[in-house]
Amino acid sequence: MDRHICDGLRVEHLEAPLGLGAERPRFSWRMETNDVGSWQAGYELEVAEAETGSVVWASGQRNESDSVLVAYEGAALRSNTAYTWRVRTWSSASAAPSEWASSRFETGLMRRSDWSAHWVEPEQVPAGVERWTMVDWIAGRRPEGEPAQRLRPTRLLRQSFDLALPVLRARLYATARGIYEAHVNGRAADDQVLAPGFDSYAHRTSVQCYDVTGLLRTGPNALGFALADGWWAGRIGLTGSSAQWGARIAALWQLEIEHVDGSHTTVASDATVRSTRGPHDYADLFVGERLDRRAVIDGWNEPGLDDSRWRPVRVLDEDLENLTPFHGEPVRRVLELAPVRISGDVDSGFLVDFGQVVAGRVRLTMPQLAPGTTVTIEHTEALAADGSWFVNIDGINKEQTDVYVAAGLAGGERYEPSFTFHGFRYARVHGLPAAPSPADIRAVVLSSDLEPAGDFTTSDERLNRLHRNTVWSQRGNFLSIPTDCPQRERAGWSGDIQVFAPAAANNANVAAFLTRWLRNLRADQLPDGAVPIYSPRSPFDADQAATGEGLGAIVAAPGWGDAIAIVPWVLYERYADAGVLAENYDAMLAWIDHQARTAAAGIPARLDRGSMDARTRENHSLLFNTGENFGDWLTPSTLRGRPLHEAIGIAPRLTGEIVGPMFQIRTLDLVSRIAAVLGRDDDAARFSGRARRLRQAFAEEYITEDGRLGCDLQGPHVLALAFDLVPEDRRALAAAHLAHLVRANGDRLDTGFLSVPHLLDVLQDTGYGDLAQRVLWQSEEPSWLYEVDQGATTIWESWDAVAPDGTPRAVSMNHYAFGCVDDWLYRRVAGISPLSAGYREFLVEPDFTSGLSHVQASINSPYGRIEIAWTLAEGTTNEGTADEGTATVELTVPPNTRATLRLDGVEETLPNGFHVRRTNPARIASHAGLRAHPAP
Ligand code: BGC
Repeated sequence: MDRHICDGLRVEHLEAPLGLGAERPRFSWRMETNDVGSWQAGYELEVAEAETGSVVWASGQRNESDSVLVAYEGAALRSNTAYTWRVRTWSSASAAPSEWASSRFETGLMRRSDWSAHWVEPEQVPAGVERWTMVDWIAGRRPEGEPAQRLRPTRLLRQSFDLALPVLRARLYATARGIYEAHVNGRAADDQVLAPGFDSYAHRTSVQCYDVTGLLRTGPNALGFALADGWWAGRIGLTGSSAQWGARIAALWQLEIEHVDGSHTTVASDATVRSTRGPHDYADLFVGERLDRRAVIDGWNEPGLDDSRWRPVRVLDEDLENLTPFHGEPVRRVLELAPVRISGDVDSGFLVDFGQVVAGRVRLTMPQLAPGTTVTIEHTEALAADGSWFVNIDGINKEQTDVYVAAGLAGGERYEPSFTFHGFRYARVHGLPAAPSPADIRAVVLSSDLEPAGDFTTSDERLNRLHRNTVWSQRGNFLSIPTDCPQRERAGWSGDIQVFAPAAANNANVAAFLTRWLRNLRADQLPDGAVPIYSPRSPFDADQAATGEGLGAIVAAPGWGDAIAIVPWVLYERYADAGVLAENYDAMLAWIDHQARTAAAGIPARLDRGSMDARTRENHSLLFNTGENFGDWLTPSTLRGRPLHEAIGIAPRLTGEIVGPMFQIRTLDLVSRIAAVLGRDDDAARFSGRARRLRQAFAEEYITEDGRLGCDLQGPHVLALAFDLVPEDRRALAAAHLAHLVRANGDRLDTGFLSVPHLLDVLQDTGYGDLAQRVLWQSEEPSWLYEVDQGATTIWESWDAVAPDGTPRAVSMNHYAFGCVDDWLYRRVAGISPLSAGYREFLVEPDFTSGLSHVQASINSPYGRIEIAWTLAEGTTNEGTADEGTATVELTVPPNTRATLRLDGVEETLPNGFHVRRTNPARIASHAGLRAHPAP
């Protein structure tokens, strides 16, 4: 008998979100059924105010199969209101609907008129304004003086108020210029950290919403806010410059209370707030913090404290236009790691190895110490080859060191930093009288608390480690915004996330997280349509680009700016989110126009306009091939044998001209498809027409008769093939030349940032699948498994970050970009790839020739979990020549989806069902010796 239920209820991709800002939130659910082949034939959805039960929207029974992101159509939602919603479905297999399934969501303060609060500034010495450039960094200039002399203390704010009546519901809305911790009557409002997170504050500042109902009481109450410099005033980014948004920190909050009798109290930040110095002598996101436990004011955030010596605040009379309800998941402590090894002694410091490169901080439990004892914790991602201390993160204001000054409390003390985090695997602790016991020290891992999604495991432990390394780099860099690295820059580089987004989407539900980041990116887009190389982009960044030279002057770049189309497309492809396409559409158009205008304005400097024929001149006036950019950034062969800061300019010089038009055409193709999804058929036709003309121009100017690209590196060939820029009659030649380049490089990649995500697909799709496998299984640098063999626990910024003898370089050990191969593993090795948005239709085509005997993977599609496990029959995974064997594939096809299973070229369509098991003869393990290099 058919039994079906609704499950997995989400609003805007989130489970029961609070403080939502969407005017027309979208609802998703999954139909679960035990009836193979049945579909959702209809649904009914109802939204009601939680308190009154009054229904604000009833969809009525709709005979539709939609179950993902169905938009609210009722009357305007009220701010600061709890709503319940419920849904039931009809299945194609039965006339009776499912039971109702229900969930809830709450709106935040959605409108300007909801706010009565004011920004309040504690009394403070403004942050020292430090202005550094990339040139200063390279020249080795560093700030003078210890952090304690240069940086300033944290501030505390408190507000006391009385409540006469019991509380039914209370929500605290809060934000800061700086970072803050909110407390209510002595208790933290929530378990999130580093609020309000990183935004392009000049345009948008996120407001958190906390359920504090249980923390309030009748009688006297107190709100306490601890405030530090954070991204607003601290030393951030590549340059380590400070006060990039402002030198003064401030906070703003509004507490909305509903009482049992229906009355309402609002407590908002205003002139009644008082402030004082906090116990941190300084606290900086990058430098680290120094907490003097002796300076902690007991009861500072509780009612009844005598705060008569605290100072009044400055109330700012400012517009609150920029406030926006926080969207997505907050940063939390997501994991804790115990040490795997503790060594060292009192003199040299205790060296703690947590066995894993992470973003986070150390929590230390200490015995009773003499008051004033100073305990210092340094952090690094790598040790020298001989196991001694080495600092891999070099730069200005990159100390990554925390200091704790003990109060001498009987029974010992415990310290975890509050206003900073670091990128590290190792910590070195000075000042303890004896080695900490393993139970007394933890690495506390911080990350945006995203819902985990897929997984991937195989019969090969090195490949598994590569996958786990990618997941760890994702965890460490999905921290408020998608960053390049969690130590040196922590910047929202648009190129990096463009490259990595597909992999990220498999491993976690990144929809809300990236939607929020795209809002920042859009806010940072320049009036001329330029999409910046990173976002958030501060007013200081804008000044720098205006006065900088060379790479330092780049505002927008091919492969970086194109994130405005590529990232939304990934979210559409993986989560069926057409809303994110619509939201970013105008920004995409502005970027396309920017490319076209730039193209029309000039020709590459190497060319002479005078000696060009009309056709060539026209071609170059269409192609986006001028201006400084990063090219196929970090192309390995261009980096050898020169100091890094010199070498990084070479790939831009060699490939900068050619990557521009390639990404221009790629983006036109995508925007044309996006326009079609959005029902803008005229745009779709216009852009595909333009792309066609640009393809001609590109081929005429950059592709030789024998299918080669002007620049004889792997990357341009990969991109030209991946983006379908090579005329059909020369495709085979281009592919053959690429294969030649790869083989000539010892079966190793030589692709930069922009091309590496496409390399293996291109090889496979042009008939060089064997070579793709060799590149994957390659264990000499540059290669993914070289890193694994060197003991990497995350993805490195440079393939040679650690030399074969174990000597590390001063580069980031936690850069997710090259982890993009993880998406290929899911799609081409496990074999699951979307054929239509959200995997509603998907292809299953496992690669039995990958040298693996077993692969198991899952994708958490919006319709349900797709699972695949395939195994080659015992004895058939040989390392020999092409072989016939038996493969067993087990596949779970979620309800409301359809799978195409392609085994050895034979296709079969599988409707949704619970489990399909196929045993087929298969061609397997045709690549001799692929796995012949065991880890040392
Ligand atoms: C960052 C990148 C970024 C690049 C731009 C680097 O310093 O770490 O990952 O995309 O600059 O070229």
